[in-house]
Amino acid sequence: LWTTNHIAEDSIKAVQAKVGTDHVILGLSGGVDSSVVAALLHKAIGEQLTCVFVDTGLLRLHEGDQVMATFAQHMGVKVIRVDAEQRYLHALQGVTDPEQKRKIIGGLFIDIFDEEAGKLNNAKWLAQGTIYPDVIESAGSKSGKAHLIKSHHNVGGLPENMTLKLVEPLRDLFKDEVRKLGLELGLPADMVFRHPFPGPGLGVRILGEVKKDFADLLRKADAIFIEELYRHDLYDKVSQAFAVFLPVKSVGVMGDGRRYDYVIAIRAVETIDFMTARWAHLPYEFLDLISRRIINEVAGISRVTYDISGKPPATIEWE
Ligand code: XMP
Repeated sequence: LWTTNHIAEDSIKAVQAKVGTDHVILGLSGGVDSSVVAALLHKAIGEQLTCVFVDTGLLRLHEGDQVMATFAQHMGVKVIRVDAEQRYLHALQGVTDPEQKRKIIGGLFIDIFDEEAGKLNNAKWLAQGTIYPDVIESAGSKSGKAHLIKSHHNVGGLPENMTLKLVEPLRDLFKDEVRKLGLELGLPADMVFRHPFPGPGLGVRILGEVKKDFADLLRKADAIFIEELYRHDLYDKVSQAFAVFLPVKSVGVMGDGRRYDYVIAIRAVETIDFMTARWAHLPYEFLDLISRRIINEVAGISRVTYDISGKPPATIEWE
């Protein structure tokens, strides 16, 4: 019987047999796949695992602290947290083109990971959260292009010139099996069932140039939206939900005063495969609450809009 218990047991044994007493390094993003790999490897090889978590400054509210709390504090996993916010902001200064932003964010991740890996000169293995659908995707493409897309898509895409051997314990698993395994290994349910988050993070949810002030406003608005989705039991009913920062100013009134502040767009979609999606028909009452809370609580935002575009023709992300 193919139960998660067996998957956990078998995967642990397989990893132990493969790496022996060697040291392993893993890029931990806080996403489901790399989190499950971290939990699995920790169980299998304990102290021989070192995770590198790059805090890009483009993560969601308190996300960096949560990743550290879950893995380092609670589970005792060795995690090196790299605070790279300034480097990212600097590299992104004046850059407005979405693809260029993606390239800069992905490239900087590789540089930083490389630097950290170089410091851990005893590591022989690089662990990756590749799952079965990623494997099929690359096998199906003649040029290996899909693999490139995947590695560029995920913060987990890593330098090809690294001399480390690869260990990919989730290679045979589908997403739902990865989730079950994560729960089995004791990861919190909200982490295991969290919506996907793009590798470039808030970098592609702040339209145009990325600035710290914009990221801070976006984080607050996004956190309100997500908090209310959970509170209203709607989080698991949508496939992905988030806020987008629009760097345009709009006029509003508050009390006796006039406001001239930025705009937040709210996006929630339902989809099976993320290739096509419909916008989630969230209740008007709920949208009303979100709008009021964001405008009242996030100084600097004067207007909230709801994105009613399907994919196609619109993409899920705005950039
Ligand atoms: P789009 O916007 O293409 O998004 O409809 C489809 C899914 O992919 C995610 N996405 C990304 N994930 N790096 C990633 O790791 C990226 O550059 C990227 N762009 C989009 C998006 O969040 C959605 O789940």
